[in-house]
Amino acid sequence: MTVNISTSDFDQQHLWHPYASLPPTYSNIVIDHAEGIHIVTEDGTRLIDGMSSWWASVHGYNHPKLNEALTKQLGKMAHVMFGGLTHQPAIDLGKKLLSIVPVGLDAIFYADSGSIAVEVALKMALQYQIAANRPTKQQFASTHSGYYGDTWHAMSICDPINGMHNLYGKQLPMQHFVPAPPLGFERALTADERTALTDFFSKRASKLAGFIIEPIIQGAGGMRFYSPEYLQLLRQLCDEHDVLLIADEIATGFGRSGKLFACEHADISPDIMTIGKALTGGYMTFAATLCTRKVADTIHQSDYPALMHGPTFMGNPLACAVACASIDLILSYDIEARTANMQAIMEQQLAPAAMLHGVFEVRCLGAVAVVELDAAVDMPIFQSLLIENGIWVRPFGKLVYIMPPYVITDDELITLCQALLKVIRIYLAKQGQL
Ligand SMILES: Cc1ncc(COP(=O)(O)O)c(C=O)c1O
Repeated sequence: MTVNISTSDFDQQHLWHPYASLPPTYSNIVIDHAEGIHIVTEDGTRLIDGMSSWWASVHGYNHPKLNEALTKQLGKMAHVMFGGLTHQPAIDLGKKLLSIVPVGLDAIFYADSGSIAVEVALKMALQYQIAANRPTKQQFASTHSGYYGDTWHAMSICDPINGMHNLYGKQLPMQHFVPAPPLGFERALTADERTALTDFFSKRASKLAGFIIEPIIQGAGGMRFYSPEYLQLLRQLCDEHDVLLIADEIATGFGRSGKLFACEHADISPDIMTIGKALTGGYMTFAATLCTRKVADTIHQSDYPALMHGPTFMGNPLACAVACASIDLILSYDIEARTANMQAIMEQQLAPAAMLHGVFEVRCLGAVAVVELDAAVDMPIFQSLLIENGIWVRPFGKLVYIMPPYVITDDELITLCQALLKVIRIYLAKQGQL
């Protein structure tokens, strides 16, 4: 790196980081602490956080209300097994969740990470179809450009071509895929696109337990926004063919898309829904899988009424307590107005990027902004520029994107966008593309 920033030899030699080699191709930056919207490196460099730590830290860092909830719960118990026992934080969180999630969702399984919540969703769907006496319905479908996590079955339904799991491809269970939803939140579906999806269901639905999709925003598979109409058609086809609709709201949930849950854009409810990431305001790993009463009751009334999953840290009280506090905070914001305002600022500030040679497109929805370049970013160069300009953004491939904490002020958001625009300009100039 050209900037003077702390790295660690031990980390470099011994600690794997996400999707990275060991040792890594370039060093990880040592962070000392984080406060509000800033991440502070060991040598005191303050970076505005453009990532909310991968969609999670929506209230910024070291939030007094979240700290208080954790500390209070810590004084009572950090953990107790959920097998045979329950506790108030789990019950309180359950009540809060059921009061805000799309109508019809009524039963909750607490999981320990997003990927596990997806595994549980798939198990639920399989058990439901077996219980409903549809034994041929044992596989899953999704769209291209999806991302659902890194565990085995979650990998099997991620984008089958450009996804990051090609290496394991041959060992993964076979699933079914349709083309990615057409790009564009406001774009109407063509008659051909409707027919293609309808035909897919006619041909494959007899094998399908469920269809999983990230509603409205496809995240790690391409940062793509698509229309509510697509989701509505999917809901209709799932109903017609006894296929469970599984909405993965792990990234989109809790306001990120401009609605509390992205399904609300289409006014639909899924049969099964996964949430995670912002659930604890980014404080700890925690997730949940929710389903309708019909799904829960059908499983319950079968020969195998138990849902066969039970992580050691299921329903962790600390996580439940901090999640309750995080939801209270989200409900205290006018989340739709706040994210609409963030969208307007990001659209306006990043619009000039669309004029640059080397930029394919700029797109914003809710509290997410994406600058898609023509070519994959050279990370060491790009990252140095980001740090030099006081911001933390983590591009992947051609995608430079931000999803800042909701507590960012208008001025801070403008500073973040202007710094990002400057970095993109300098970077593209260095690449000889301007
Ligand atoms: C839509 C979606 N589903 C599932 C996951 C997996 O969550 P986790 O990383 O907590 O396992 C992610 C993570 O990025 C995600 O974006």
